[in-house]
Amino acid sequence: MTKSTILTGITTTGTPHLGNYVGAIRPAIEASKDANANPFYFLADYHALIKCSEPEKVRQSSLEIAATWLALGLDTKNATFYRQSDIPEIMELTWMLTCVTAKGLMNRSHAYKAVVAENEASANNDPDKGITMGLFSYPILMAADMLIFNAHKVPVGKDQLQHIEMARDIASRFNHIYGEHFALPEAIVGENAATLLGLDGRKMSKSYNNTIPLFAPEKKLKKLINKIKTNSLEPGEPKDPTGCTLFSTYQAFATAAEVADIRQRYAEGIAWGEMKKVLFEHINEHIIPARERYEALIKEPDHIEQQLQEGAEKARAITAPFLLELRKAVGIAKIG
Ligand code: TRP
Repeated sequence: MTKSTILTGITTTGTPHLGNYVGAIRPAIEASKDANANPFYFLADYHALIKCSEPEKVRQSSLEIAATWLALGLDTKNATFYRQSDIPEIMELTWMLTCVTAKGLMNRSHAYKAVVAENEASANNDPDKGITMGLFSYPILMAADMLIFNAHKVPVGKDQLQHIEMARDIASRFNHIYGEHFALPEAIVGENAATLLGLDGRKMSKSYNNTIPLFAPEKKLKKLINKIKTNSLEPGEPKDPTGCTLFSTYQAFATAAEVADIRQRYAEGIAWGEMKKVLFEHINEHIIPARERYEALIKEPDHIEQQLQEGAEKARAITAPFLLELRKAVGIAKIG
């Protein structure tokens, strides 16, 4: 049986938070241990440039994200863990794909349209304000990320579904013109992966500025948990766990029996202050071993770099010969 190739990228802007952990990192690390899968996980650092032009932030985020995945026990023997920019074939393929991608397809991209809509809603009369070609053609770079490895399954959030669809369109177009070279990737949207709520009760997201960093030091973690918004019910009054940020966060880290116990305490009117304490202690305990490994790894960037280099080597053993095949397919070859 050929193993199915699972691939996903993490854009290197920002510090990993609890929402990233339960929604994406934890399931991906579980999958990295599955001997029947062939997982590819990468730091999407060229994607970072689309949103961020602060070099220090991109650099720091790459370090933090790599350290996070390693600290959480990513199996780098089974999984190929690499940095996008170490694989030059991705950029080269991006251009080949750009040349078969209809502009009309890119016009429909949500990421781009959202900025146009913002521009149109604001007073300025330039719909293109602040839109770079990087943002406009971002789905093509993402298609190259997947197609260069012939990824079968791509675990992503719902916001990324359109990009997988576009990658399929672009791959089909290339296959139609130049012959069957690419498998069509399929999105996997983890229905049971939890979506955490942030400090303000909206979805936890770096764009809402409501996150709790996964490896925040203990004191900071406590402080942030204490900031989570609750309603104003008094101690002793029965409370509804449905839609409660504290409860759903607890649930993402607890067993069914532990959740049942807390549900009971809600019915009995647990005080919010007490629930925050319970939540802090529970999460903190869960995170301590990985946080210790994380803090040690951050001080050893050479070790992290070494892991990424090994990943790049594994990845390029696939991409380099494949790119030669693709060059030949499009007519780019030595003469004679
Ligand atoms: N654009 C994705 C995001 O913002 C990250 C990403 C880049 C990705 N390349 C990818 C995800 C390829 C899956 C496959 O979440």
